[in-house]
Amino acid sequence: MSQHPDINDNINGANTTDEQNPNSTNPMNPEAQAATDTAISIDANASSQNEPTEGKHIRIVNTFMKRRTHMNKNAELALTAPEFAHYLVNNSFGDGNLDGINDLRVLFADSPNGSDAPLTVEIGFGLGDSFIEMAAAEPTRNFVGVEVHEPGIGKCAYMAGTQGLTNVKIINGDAIQLLKQLPENHIDRIQLYFPDPWQKKRHYKRRFVSPERMAIVTRSLKQGGWFHTATDWEHYAFWMVEVLDGFAGLTNQAGAGNFTDRPDFRPMTKFERRGLERGHGVWDLIYIKD
Ligand SMILES: C[S@@+](CC[C@H](N)C(=O)[O-])C[C@H]1O[C@@H](n2cnc3c(N)ncnc32)[C@H](O)[C@@H]1O
Repeated sequence: MSQHPDINDNINGANTTDEQNPNSTNPMNPEAQAATDTAISIDANASSQNEPTEGKHIRIVNTFMKRRTHMNKNAELALTAPEFAHYLVNNSFGDGNLDGINDLRVLFADSPNGSDAPLTVEIGFGLGDSFIEMAAAEPTRNFVGVEVHEPGIGKCAYMAGTQGLTNVKIINGDAIQLLKQLPENHIDRIQLYFPDPWQKKRHYKRRFVSPERMAIVTRSLKQGGWFHTATDWEHYAFWMVEVLDGFAGLTNQAGAGNFTDRPDFRPMTKFERRGLERGHGVWDLIYIKD
């Protein structure tokens, strides 16, 4: 596999600049594009995201931009009605406060699978259709979904409830913050499907797949555990394989430099379908923790 011509040392964040291609658009994800544009001003004014340390401020760069979109009736019902409450680990409306969530396995202690069942965590499930399909297909495995988008959280909880799933929990908040709070060697599989591509060079630092964030992901995986990602954004695909192949502690199950065939167990996601309709390719990667 040859390297994508545009991949450069921005992967390490050291060389991130504010260069912008004014013609750059995100045909796959207009919301992320809008978010990308908004991010410029939000970054500049996001004092609430700054953490003081010894008189300095460290800017926290998030991989998401919270967007307000329509909440349908079913999603709203699931976020408010008591019969869905057991799917929602923390407050599903609002700020995604993760205080006290230090162990995902205990969330299933009273469920039929119990807390020792294999555990999959999906980061950024969107509206949750493929996440719920996977959970329904593997009832003896526990699934935790993490999202910041409340209409998606509501829709996902609604689907889990109407299907009577007992192996699903949903967390509202930043997956990176959550993973930092968890024990090491905790999760069997982490999946990240069609993450926002943040295609402008000056926003590469928001890409979920980066050496810093992969250190956090890898720490929380069990030995032999998987990190599975997929994208329809070619530049990001080659960026991912470069970051992940270079990351000590993870092994590309398709061999260094290679993408994996699309596995049957991964249902098509909303963003994948949108990308395919626009003529994009799809690239899957599975890495095993050494
Ligand atoms: C492009 S969408 C893809 C949604 C879905 N996986 C799909 O393929 O249809 C990316 C999603 O990831 C979520 N996201 C991004 N960074 C996140 C983070 N750090 N924690 C939780 N969710 C995140 C966003 O809110 C968004 O819904």
